[in-house]
Amino acid sequence: MNPVPVLVDAHAHLDDEAFDGDRSELLRQIQKAGIIVVNAGSDLESSRFSLELARNWDFVYACVGVHPHEAKKAHPGYIGELTELARDPKVVAIGEIGLDYHYDFSPREVQKEVFEKQLLLAKDLGLPVVVHCREALSDVLEILKKSGVKKGLLHCYTGTLNEARDFLDLGFYFSFGGMLTFKKAEDLRKVAKGLPKERVLVETDCPYLSPEPFRGRRNDPTRLVYVVRSLAGIWGISEEEVAEITRNNAIELFGLEC
Ligand code: NI
Repeated sequence: MNPVPVLVDAHAHLDDEAFDGDRSELLRQIQKAGIIVVNAGSDLESSRFSLELARNWDFVYACVGVHPHEAKKAHPGYIGELTELARDPKVVAIGEIGLDYHYDFSPREVQKEVFEKQLLLAKDLGLPVVVHCREALSDVLEILKKSGVKKGLLHCYTGTLNEARDFLDLGFYFSFGGMLTFKKAEDLRKVAKGLPKERVLVETDCPYLSPEPFRGRRNDPTRLVYVVRSLAGIWGISEEEVAEITRNNAIELFGLEC
């Protein structure tokens, strides 16, 4: 029997090639630590892999979707393939999808089109969305409002408290990861403090964004505890309470059975 899960990592990329050398060993460690992982897809291939991981490991759940970076590579049949994948009960959201105007790896018009089509899919399937947004909050908000999607997560939130209000009104959640522990992230900690606790989740975004004191090294879900510790300090409550609140929020958002 598995240990009782205590933490939910709301956004990870365990399918990433950074884990190719030791993925099974790491998954066993995550299982032992009692951490539930919501793994995000970035394109069709990684969405398929994400679902394969979720089918093989009961504490892993999958999101399927095409990331804005990969939007220009999405071939005509991608919505059909995503629909097929999303019918699996281990798929809990469409993601990660969104807009990235920082890197602009795909033309903005293509990013918007691919984002809109996947929002429509989420709406049709009644699934929440996991949104990646970089320097594009106003366009993301406008497109989300138009889409009619009522539930989702702004992962690795870096906007202001003021900008968060419209997304709160829409019914969205926010997740914070390793950046919360960075020395210069005082503004981000203020945002985390100001948001309603019932809308906040924690994530690693691994293999990226390792928390202090592991900054710059490969991240993994066992380091989620450092994010939880940081949030406990910010909110002035215990780590156990942060774990419980963020776990319940993840269950509410993704409909996890745990
Ligand atoms: Ni991500």
